[in-house]
Amino acid sequence: MVQLHEMILRDAHQSMLATRMRTEDMLPIAEKVDQVGFFSLEVWGGATFDVSIRYLNQDPWERLRQLKKAMPNTPLQMLERAMNIVAYRNFPDDVVKKFIYLAKKNGCDYFRIFDALNDLRNMETPMKAVKENGGHVQACLSYTISPVHSVDYFITRFKQLEKMGADSLCVKDMAGMISPQRAYDIVKGCKDAGVKLPMDLHSHCTSGMTGMAYQRAVEAGIDILDTAISPISGGTAAPATESIVAALHGTEWDTHYDLKLLIEIRKYFLEIWGKYRHLHRFDALKIDPSVTLHQVPGGMLSNLIFQLEEQGARDKYREILDETARVREELGYPPLVTPTSQVVGVQAVMNVLHGRYKVITKETKDYCKGMYGKPPAPIKPEIMKTVLGPQWKDEVIDCRPSDLLEPMWEKRKSELKEHGVKMTDENVMTYTIYPQVGLKFLKGEAVAEFYSDELPLPIDHVLTRGMVRQSFPELKQIWLETEPPENRAGPAQIPTEFEVEVDGEPFEVKVTPTGGYLVAGAEDVAPQGKPKDIEGGVKSSMQGTILKIKVKTGDKVKEGEIIATIEAMKMEQEIKSETAGEVKEIFVKEGDSVSNGDLLMQIL
Ligand code: CO
Repeated sequence: MVQLHEMILRDAHQSMLATRMRTEDMLPIAEKVDQVGFFSLEVWGGATFDVSIRYLNQDPWERLRQLKKAMPNTPLQMLERAMNIVAYRNFPDDVVKKFIYLAKKNGCDYFRIFDALNDLRNMETPMKAVKENGGHVQACLSYTISPVHSVDYFITRFKQLEKMGADSLCVKDMAGMISPQRAYDIVKGCKDAGVKLPMDLHSHCTSGMTGMAYQRAVEAGIDILDTAISPISGGTAAPATESIVAALHGTEWDTHYDLKLLIEIRKYFLEIWGKYRHLHRFDALKIDPSVTLHQVPGGMLSNLIFQLEEQGARDKYREILDETARVREELGYPPLVTPTSQVVGVQAVMNVLHGRYKVITKETKDYCKGMYGKPPAPIKPEIMKTVLGPQWKDEVIDCRPSDLLEPMWEKRKSELKEHGVKMTDENVMTYTIYPQVGLKFLKGEAVAEFYSDELPLPIDHVLTRGMVRQSFPELKQIWLETEPPENRAGPAQIPTEFEVEVDGEPFEVKVTPTGGYLVAGAEDVAPQGKPKDIEGGVKSSMQGTILKIKVKTGDKVKEGEIIATIEAMKMEQEIKSETAGEVKEIFVKEGDSVSNGDLLMQIL
C-alpha cells in the first residue's frame, strides 16, 4: 500500500497562488479532508508563516491551532528549513528549539526538515528538538543533478539521517526535475542498502516527467507520495491526488482512499481556486522541461524575470540562466532551493550586468565562508580568491554556522516588551523570526490583502495608497480631486495601473478612480534638482534601497573602502569608493530608494 502526503494547504498554493490561501478558506473543508486518511497533511511552514503576517494579517499560530482542532485524526505537518526555520537566515539553537516546542504545542505533529546544502550538521538541532517534544521527524535531502549528487550520495546521507533518529525520509525534488530512472535508483538503492524507514517522494510537475517518476518510485518500493487535490495541482505544483489514487487503484499499491470523497473535496477547492484568479499565471500551469538543463526552480524563474525587469535588463534572461548554471558549478553545485537559490541567482545577475564577480553580494561572501554550511563540492579556488581575497583560507569557517551565533530568545523578548504588545511565547517567536514585519503585525498595523472579487480596488483603499507610495517614493501627499487633472496646473495624475510584487512575482493591479482623480501633492514632492554628474560623484550601479551609509561628510576614505551598502534583489551589496579622498557631500539617506545611475555622494 502506498500512502499520500496531501499538500493542498501549503505547497500547492505556495507554488500556484503565491501562498495566499487564508485560514477561512481552509476550515470549511477540514472535516472532509480529515476523513480521507492521509499519511499526513502539510499545513504550515515554508512561506506560509511570512505571508500570513506580511500580506494576510493572520496569525500563523492561530491557523495551526484551528486546523488541529478541525482535523484531530490526520497528522499535521510543517516544512522546516533547518536552522533557517521559516525564514532566510540562520538562527541560534535556543530559537530553533523554542520554535519546535511551540509548533508542536500548537498542533504540528510531523516536521519535514531540510537543509539547502544537505549539510546534516544543520539538521541536528531541529531533529533532536522534534524528538524531545514527541513529534515525528521527516528528514529530507534536497534533490539536484550534478556530478557529486550521485545515487550513492543520497543513499549514504539517508542512512546517516536514519541513524540521527529520523522517523521517515523524503527526497525533496523542489524543482520538479527528477527522472523516472533516478527516482527508481534512489528509492531502490536505499531499500537495498537496508534503509528501514518509510520513504517519501516530494516533487512538482514542472519537467513533465513526474507522473512517470512516481510510478517508478512506486515500483522501487516508495511508501509515501506527495500530491495535491487537483484544482491546485500540475504545472509548477504537485501531481493531483485524485489521479494518483485512481492510478494505483486495484494494484498492490492501492491507497484505499475514497475517490468520491476526494472529488467532493475537489469541488470545494475549485471555488477556492477561483477566489484567487488574479494570481493565476498561465506559465505556472505549463510544463517546462528546460528545468532539467538549467535546474532553476519555477518560483525562482518568475522571481528572476521580475528582478531583471526591475534592473532594466529583461533581454539578458537567457544569458543569466546560463550564467546561473556556471555560478552554481563554481560554487560547488548547491541545490537551488531557499536560500541558496537566491545567492546563486543574484550573483549570476550581477555577473551578467557588471562583469563576472565584479560586484559580489554579501550573501555570496557568506556562502563562500561556509556561513550557510558546507557546499556539496569544493568551491573553485580561483573563485574563493576573487570573492574572499588572497587570504581566503583564513576566512573559511570549519564549524556549524549557528555555533557562531549568540542565544537570541531572551534578548528579543525584552525588546518586544518595550512595544506594549501581548507577551505570549508565540508572539515573541513571530517577532524573533521577523523583527520588522512581525512587529508591524503584532501591533495591529498589518493589512489583509484582497480577493479577486474585490478588484479593482477603490481609490481610497489603504493598499492603493501603499502601492502609490511604493511606486512613487518621492511623493509626500496623495489625495482625491474632483476636477480632471488637465484643468489644473501643477499636480500630476497618478497612473491607476500598477505592477505589484507578490512573493517575488509581479502581478498587475488596477484601481478605479470613482468620483475623483488620484493626484499627488506637488508642493510636497522631494526636490528633483539633485545633480546628475559632478566631479568625484559616486553613483549607484543598481536599483535598490540604501541600507547603511558608512561615512559622514568630512570623512577621509581610502580607495576601495566600503562607503555604503544597498539592498538590491533582496541581497545586500557593498558600494566602494573608487578613489581616495574626502566625503564632500552625501545626497541620500538610509532607507532611500535609488535607481541605477543615481548620485550617492561626492568624494574629492
Ligand atoms: Co515543493
